[in-house]
Amino acid sequence: MRKMFICGNWKMNTTAAEAVRLLDGLKPAAAAAPAVEVGACPPFVYLAGASAALKGSAIALGAQNMYFEASGAFTGEISASMLTDVGCKYVILGHSERRHVFGEGDELINKKVRAAFAAGLIPILCVGELLEERESGNTEAVVKRHVTEGLRGLAASDAARIVIAYEPVWAIGTGKTATPEQANDVHVFIRGLLAELYDVETASAIRIQYGGSVKPDNTFDLMSLPEVDGALVGGASLKVDSFSQIIKEAARACS
Ligand code: 13P
Repeated sequence: MRKMFICGNWKMNTTAAEAVRLLDGLKPAAAAAPAVEVGACPPFVYLAGASAALKGSAIALGAQNMYFEASGAFTGEISASMLTDVGCKYVILGHSERRHVFGEGDELINKKVRAAFAAGLIPILCVGELLEERESGNTEAVVKRHVTEGLRGLAASDAARIVIAYEPVWAIGTGKTATPEQANDVHVFIRGLLAELYDVETASAIRIQYGGSVKPDNTFDLMSLPEVDGALVGGASLKVDSFSQIIKEAARACS
């Protein structure tokens, strides 16, 4: 049974004080929704403070990126063990902004995925097509490449624990959400692909989140889809009210 997972990706936002206020403000909604796992991914520099603020709460902490090497001369980079050291459980990898703004490719992302597992972190592997890729009928080919290359070399025991976030790039930060049908089609496709790459049991253990303009008023419909196991939320995760409402709607969808 897959537990619904609603996670905030704060991107490059908040101050240290706002980060703590936001986490404190989310605790009541998270506590009121035990059927939903709630997570937050603040910027690196606020992770230690966030970890302290979350002590004793069930909200999971995640980072937004990492490098695959364990340590050494990699100026400006952060390792997986540094993230576990400050209390992270999750790390977002292969986000479309990493792929398209910073030029990260599938091979690098795969190295990060494997290094994350080796250090005891659970990756949230983001996959998804650009608008022109959708319009030219290449959505499945792109998603297949992101998933297959992202998971390359992973044993089924690790793969079963990964979280995949399907985030159509054209829906990120645009206010254009995928329709429930569009999201469901791709989630069904990913689940089938995972069964081919591994087996039905492994595929059915993997949580597949939807991301891209998730808001309180579209959460229920998206989260009610049988193959949608949660959401990766950008803009609407930055306000206590909207993210609390999303948690509540997700809990309603899985009750
Ligand atoms: P928005 O919810 O702001 O569209 O961002 C989605 C996203 O990129 C989450 O990782």
